[in-house]
Amino acid sequence: MSLRQTTLNIDLEQLRANFKAVALHGHPLSLCPVVKANAYGHGLTEVARTFSEAGAAYLAVALCEEGVALRKHGINTPILVLGPAPTDAYHYMIEHQLVPCISNIEQIELLARAAKNTAATYHLKIDTGMSRLGVSLSALNEVLKQLQAHPTLHMQGVLTHFANADLQDQKFNQHQIEGFKSALRTIHEAEFTPEIIHCSNSAATLDLQVADQTMLRPGLALYGINPLGPHPASIELQPAMHWHTSPLHIKAIPADTPVSYGGTWRAQKPTTLAILPVGYADGYRREFSNKATVLIQGRRAPVVGQICMDHTLVDITDIPGTKLDDEVVLLGQQQQEAITPWELASWAQTIPYEILCGISSRVKRTYTGTTSA
Ligand SMILES: Cc1ncc(COP(=O)(O)O)c(C=O)c1O
Repeated sequence: MSLRQTTLNIDLEQLRANFKAVALHGHPLSLCPVVKANAYGHGLTEVARTFSEAGAAYLAVALCEEGVALRKHGINTPILVLGPAPTDAYHYMIEHQLVPCISNIEQIELLARAAKNTAATYHLKIDTGMSRLGVSLSALNEVLKQLQAHPTLHMQGVLTHFANADLQDQKFNQHQIEGFKSALRTIHEAEFTPEIIHCSNSAATLDLQVADQTMLRPGLALYGINPLGPHPASIELQPAMHWHTSPLHIKAIPADTPVSYGGTWRAQKPTTLAILPVGYADGYRREFSNKATVLIQGRRAPVVGQICMDHTLVDITDIPGTKLDDEVVLLGQQQQEAITPWELASWAQTIPYEILCGISSRVKRTYTGTTSA
């Protein structure tokens, strides 16, 4: 039961439309939607089911636990675990048919031990410039030799990850593409025949052509956000989140009254405030204090004073008819106005990813649009 007005509505129809637009743009490559981190805050199982039904070839998660949760909810789409797993996680991956990314010799041994000489599938991750996970080009031959010693392990895929695709840093992107091509040549020379080749995140999906690639691995674009900046994307994408609340209390204060912790904002004239039941414990970031606006009756009302753990105060003096049951939009569209993830991110000097993932579990998710197409 949730008695809170503060709700995050996810439009599954819109997610399906974004999937279609990305799939059309990437045709004939297949799609592996990235659904880690609770599907970027949208809700892991509902989103995974939506993308699976829309035709996803694979789903990518960061954690073994995320993959197990999807299996427990009956999602049968192939699942790739992007993150390195703790030593005892390989048993779970095999039991739940999750496919690990292998980045080093230790992981090969762990997978082989967990598989106990039965067949197990993996994707080999190559580090072409991210300097995070993946086999570096200099270590590739040694890793391939180790893999040849385990013929029951099946290299189904090879992947890498772009570091600067969203910066449209063509020089570094090309450096990574060349490194990936060279790794693929070495892998083929060692007589491996991976059938799935994937490297493109959202920015690369929209902006780069990579020869040999068979599958795209976008996240942000499928959630309707242009990875390349706040301007409209080159394909039709729309955010699917509508984060809203309604006032808990409406209060008139005289001129020169300080507002919220530290009195960082002071009324210049007699002012009407709406107190909203949302705060930084919900992911409505403290950095938004005195910067953000919300939408009421299709108009912008400024956030005034410090955002608290559970409350946010907005100046509604210029929206005199505001009532307690009015919808207040924190993120999303209201009448002709919209607050986008990029706009929220700009108020906190961060990126949309962090805003979406940061909407906490205490904000109830509701869904519109069915999960069957
Ligand atoms: C390995 C990997 N691939 C793909 C993605 C998807 O990136 P984006 O959301 O920018 O499309 C991520 C996201 O962080 C990732 O870590």
